[in-house]
Amino acid sequence: MITKKILIFGASGQIGRYCIRRFAKNNYKITAVTRNLHRKGYILKTQAPIGYLDIVEANLFDEKKLKELIGKADVCLNLVGILHEKGRVSTFKNLHSNFPKKLAEICNSEKVKFVHVSALGSEKAIDSKYATSKVSGEKFVRNILPDSTIIKPSLVYSVDDNFTTKFMGLLSILPIFPLYYNGKTKFMPIHVSDLAEIIFHVISQEIYSTDIEAVGPETLSFKEILQILMKCIRKNCLLLPMPLPLARLTAFFMQILPEPPITQDQINLLKYDNIKSGNSTTNFDIGCSSKQKFEESIMKYAFNWTEGGQFSSFLKK
Ligand SMILES: NC(=O)c1ccc[n+]([C@@H]2O[C@H](COP(=O)([O-])OP(=O)(O)OC[C@H]3O[C@@H](n4cnc5c(N)ncnc54)[C@H](OP(=O)(O)O)[C@@H]3O)[C@@H](O)[C@H]2O)c1
Repeated sequence: MITKKILIFGASGQIGRYCIRRFAKNNYKITAVTRNLHRKGYILKTQAPIGYLDIVEANLFDEKKLKELIGKADVCLNLVGILHEKGRVSTFKNLHSNFPKKLAEICNSEKVKFVHVSALGSEKAIDSKYATSKVSGEKFVRNILPDSTIIKPSLVYSVDDNFTTKFMGLLSILPIFPLYYNGKTKFMPIHVSDLAEIIFHVISQEIYSTDIEAVGPETLSFKEILQILMKCIRKNCLLLPMPLPLARLTAFFMQILPEPPITQDQINLLKYDNIKSGNSTTNFDIGCSSKQKFEESIMKYAFNWTEGGQFSSFLKK
């Protein structure tokens, strides 16, 4: 029996796919919006049993379509986000500020609950366009729809992420790896299944009008994260502190690539710790602790980047 109708924007991404699976388990009916059904339909279709998931192709800036979709939902969940800008439409301002603003306005007029996923630690990062656009999106949402929920995760990881998987790929082939800011920036990485549980908890327990910082159980520095990743893939790269001007210069050239490993904006962002602020509600405060430890979780999928693959340690015996 269907108990709630959830509309998800950005559903084909890492967090979206885990949310679909978590929601369907609880008999929620999901409508997943994608920009391109041909490219993302095959990933989405397998995330829920038949009857629990509708996939809709839509232009995120088609207001009429947004109204039509939101009007049929009980809850709207926004997971649209980018790490680097592309062209004149896929900009931080459009996707992190203007788009959530539009969703909040429509949810307000249609009396639909709104859960917006933003990012942790953005307030301090005033020299990052990514962070300032996230903060401005949060302000729009909070002003337009005071009873919305804004969830701010630290680094989210899993076998489907763009972070640990990308880094393990690089660490497995590079002899030297750059350490920005001496590797001292702190994170509270959260496994995506723990984050999906928090989002499900917020929706099922109807926790609205709150900003929630979503963090994992440990605080790790950038250097410690890299060391764990290397340990898990049984590789030893030299971690070399990179002077900031050189980091900026390399990022300047890398950001020309279609999928840049790092951009200048990310170098700016990395300067700031990505941990709970200490003066806001966290997932632990709402009774939804994140359980998965970083190293244990990474160990479960790191073999994909280990020389010889999953059975290599067995072969060596
Ligand atoms: N992953 C993390 O570590 C992390 C940490 C903090 C905050 N967040 C935030 O959490 C939200 C979801 O993150 P995620 O990791 O699930 O992201 P993701 O895997 O990159 O997915 C984001 C989704 O946004 C949609 N999208 C719509 N317009 C886009 C555009 N112009 N360019 C690129 N994608 C577009 C894409 O769906 P279609 O292609 O199907 O349209 C994509 O599946 C984002 O707002 C992100 O900033 C993530």
